[in-house]
Amino acid sequence: MAKRNIVKFGDEILRKKSREVTVFDDKLWVLLDDMYETMRAADGIGLAAPQVGILRRVVVIDVGDGKIELINPVITSAKGKQHEVEGCLSCPDTWGYVQRPAKVKVTAQNRYGKEVKYEGTELLARAFCHEIDHLNGIIFTDLADEMVDKRKEQ
Ligand code: CO
Repeated sequence: MAKRNIVKFGDEILRKKSREVTVFDDKLWVLLDDMYETMRAADGIGLAAPQVGILRRVVVIDVGDGKIELINPVITSAKGKQHEVEGCLSCPDTWGYVQRPAKVKVTAQNRYGKEVKYEGTELLARAFCHEIDHLNGIIFTDLADEMVDKRKEQ
């Protein structure tokens, strides 16, 4: 495994739409492992492939309940609302309130191409939405209705 560089806000690649994964080979597994290591090293809870410069529909998430790998994820159900502060590893020192669904269901594939389903509430629902947005070129700052200066609050 190797840590990769995280692409920062302003880089055009974060605005591009990622392509479907069709080949589930060792190259994909290395990408997943590298993304997880990169995310953990940066103290993140989620990372999408475009954030390491790869325009493929690949996401890793760990909100503290273990690793989740999503290939070609699709949100199949979104219910309720939550309004919390969000950040992004591509946007250091930037925080803002984003409205997200309270409960989300996701269908995706795992690293072997097998269909997997997840359900998330609270932080996990937020992470699913945030990371899948990255695959479509959307950054949370696009959706934030109020930015927060955390340094001022401390
Ligand atoms: Co992000």
